[in-house]
Amino acid sequence: MRLATVACVSVIPARSVVVRAPGKVNLYLEVGDVREDGYHELNTIFQSVSLVDEVTLAEHHELQVRLRGGNGHSAGADSVPTGQRNLAWQAAELLAERLGREPNVDIGILKSIPVAGGMAGGSTDAAAVLVGLAALWGEEIERDELLELAAELGSDVPFCVYGGTAVGGGRGELLTSALARATLHWVLAFSTQGLSTPAVYRELDRLRAAGTQPKSTDCDELLRALAFGDVAQIAGLLHNDLQPAALALRPDLRRTLSAGQEAGALAGIIAGSGPTCMFLAESAHHAVDVAAQLAGAGVCQSVRVAHGPVKGARVV
Ligand code: C5P
Repeated sequence: MRLATVACVSVIPARSVVVRAPGKVNLYLEVGDVREDGYHELNTIFQSVSLVDEVTLAEHHELQVRLRGGNGHSAGADSVPTGQRNLAWQAAELLAERLGREPNVDIGILKSIPVAGGMAGGSTDAAAVLVGLAALWGEEIERDELLELAAELGSDVPFCVYGGTAVGGGRGELLTSALARATLHWVLAFSTQGLSTPAVYRELDRLRAAGTQPKSTDCDELLRALAFGDVAQIAGLLHNDLQPAALALRPDLRRTLSAGQEAGALAGIIAGSGPTCMFLAESAHHAVDVAAQLAGAGVCQSVRVAHGPVKGARVV
């Protein structure tokens, strides 16, 4: 008798940590001039929303990143590099170097935030690795040091650690908490294809050089509306300087924005550098209604509802 069965043993990790890593939207995004370092000076209001990636960290003999789509959709997970070009990988190397350790960890990312969607999906995974690895390794890291490491990885990474609602200055990494009294209910329309953030910033520079200077509204007015929790007023003050550039690169998104308005959203703008479109609803119930109508309009790949603010990357 031949017994040729090869056992495929999956090793249960001795210790692992799970981190919930929320995506973000920009309620307000004013883009200044290009700086000498190539970044643009920003004045923005970030908000973390309840669309989250789940990042599991486990001790391993070497550093590795594995990705898969969560909630029944790929979120573009199959298009993400899993090696050194992945920001989560870079986060593990950076923290290990700072702590004088080897970055031997298995990083499993269950993606729900769309890849290259303008919602800081890659940045929030990196934030989750910083927060989660510190916990896995039993290291106490001061919040300021964590935010400093986060800023080395990318402009949005500090906010992904910070969470809630915050004003971002500098290239987005200088944060001040903002009071947001109301829970905001969002409808998010995802696109089939992502947009490159640098390409959108370059397009904005090109539009400005050609004399099309998008006009910003008033950030302070929106901060006051957020503090009062006046959703209708907030809707009228949502603003994104990157929107004309994203629409120049992806004119089809105009149809998505119009469909959201027709579906009864209070307002709709492009999320960050796009192509995700975000719509504000009056309530959780209203958001589900808008989402259902938008999903039927055939103007995007998929639609999700989410609320904000929620906390930044946290171990669960
Ligand atoms: O900081 P991060 O690597 O996430 O930025 C990605 C790209 O987005 C930058 O290389 C730059 O082209 C653009 N960017 C910018 N100004 C910012 C943030 C990002 O021009 N404040």
